[in-house]
Amino acid sequence: MKKSLLNFLPEHAALNPVSFHMPGHKGSQLYKKLGYGEILDKLMDCDITEIPGADNLFQTEDVILEIMEKYKKLYGSKKSYLLVNGSSVGLIAGILSCTKRGDKVIMARNSHKSIFNAMRLGGLDPVYLFPEILEGHGILGGISPEEVKKLMDENPDAGCVVLPSPNYYGICSDIRAIAEACHERNKVLIVDQAHGAHLRFIGEGYPMSAEEGGADIVINSTHKTLASWTQTAVMNVMSDRVDLNVIEDNLQILESSSPSYPLMLSLDINADILLDEAKKEKLFGEWKEAVDMFYSAAGQIPGLKIIEDPMLDRTKLNMDMGYLGLTGNELEGLLNERGIFVELVTGNIIMGMTGIGTTKEHVERLVTALRDIASERRTEDCAGAKEQSDILTFKPERAPVPEEKESVLIDDCAGRVCAGSIIPYPPGIPLLCPGEVITKELIDYVKKLRSMGEKVIGVSSAGEILVGK
Ligand SMILES: Cc1ncc(COP(=O)(O)O)c(C=O)c1O
Repeated sequence: MKKSLLNFLPEHAALNPVSFHMPGHKGSQLYKKLGYGEILDKLMDCDITEIPGADNLFQTEDVILEIMEKYKKLYGSKKSYLLVNGSSVGLIAGILSCTKRGDKVIMARNSHKSIFNAMRLGGLDPVYLFPEILEGHGILGGISPEEVKKLMDENPDAGCVVLPSPNYYGICSDIRAIAEACHERNKVLIVDQAHGAHLRFIGEGYPMSAEEGGADIVINSTHKTLASWTQTAVMNVMSDRVDLNVIEDNLQILESSSPSYPLMLSLDINADILLDEAKKEKLFGEWKEAVDMFYSAAGQIPGLKIIEDPMLDRTKLNMDMGYLGLTGNELEGLLNERGIFVELVTGNIIMGMTGIGTTKEHVERLVTALRDIASERRTEDCAGAKEQSDILTFKPERAPVPEEKESVLIDDCAGRVCAGSIIPYPPGIPLLCPGEVITKELIDYVKKLRSMGEKVIGVSSAGEILVGK
């Protein structure tokens, strides 16, 4: 019989794996140790629908409104919305709520696919902000306030500004300066804080949250780093620049009409933890200690390069063993053999995502594995650094978005205009969007990813992509 989730998931759990990937809770232990074990045991009985007393996600008056109020207090928002279709739906709803068809939107080119999808759904015209390149690492860094100002001045008719902070590697932008510049020009700033739901709570030594920085709408994947479950997120509206009724209308259009009560319950558990000072202090204390342990141990491992930067959210552990002759994929494979699973590989860098459920034991296993891998690499294996940088640093040439589309084998697409989206997943940042010109370099890169078994959304199993006719 072929494998399905029925056997894959228990087999994976039996490996006693260590998760350096989403979600942030890292398994049932977190809930059990905080006293939520009993409700977890009854989870299937909590899978209900909108019966009397259970409120309605799209007309909140009762128990769901109560959870929204908790998040409003936690993040200091005007209003907080619970999302059951991830940050993706919040980003799309937020953008559609601040724009009308044909509007320009100033957005980061390294945005998540949901933001590009909002452009397609809303008939919007993206104007791209290109992030800085992080010195010495060849990966994308933050977005400079000067770049945002420049594009706003060149495009005074743009509807809003959208950017990620932190980005996938954990690099944050100066949201305070960007928000000030947006507001001076009467523009709404939407921050994709999918990777930084914890920044409002983690305290010293970490970049400021976008809520504190003055953004108008901030979308947080509480499932990525905090204690709610996969697919849950929170959208915080921080100012009066956006009409709440329009946001609510867009959310009810875009989200499932059968929101999962277990998922909303997990958002309540997460809020309950964050509002309880003792629980919050304990979990954040352990998490920060584990993270600090990683950075001090990593410095002692020969051949391991890590990223440290004042704008880095240090909970993302970026590791590079290119100096030992290992590509990111090779290093990931060696960690997988030791039961350690990471979130992202780009070039030589692998990113381990820690979360509120990360413990010192998890980090100890990672550090031990890295030490072993470093010491097993014989000097003759290390013919020097294998240099690979982030392909996303390229700037694709743009043409009008094709009206008519056809499927063509990727090998025959050099010079053609992309009519769909080509998206390696993770990180979910489109390599090519509709209207971008396909180059031989990109074709080779996509083929390389596919040959390594990476998922590339937008390329069919027959190797075709959508291009303009
Ligand atoms: C930068 C960024 N923004 C938004 C999202 C979407 O978040 P979600 O998976 O909660 O829909 C992701 C997902 O990985 C992401 O990496």
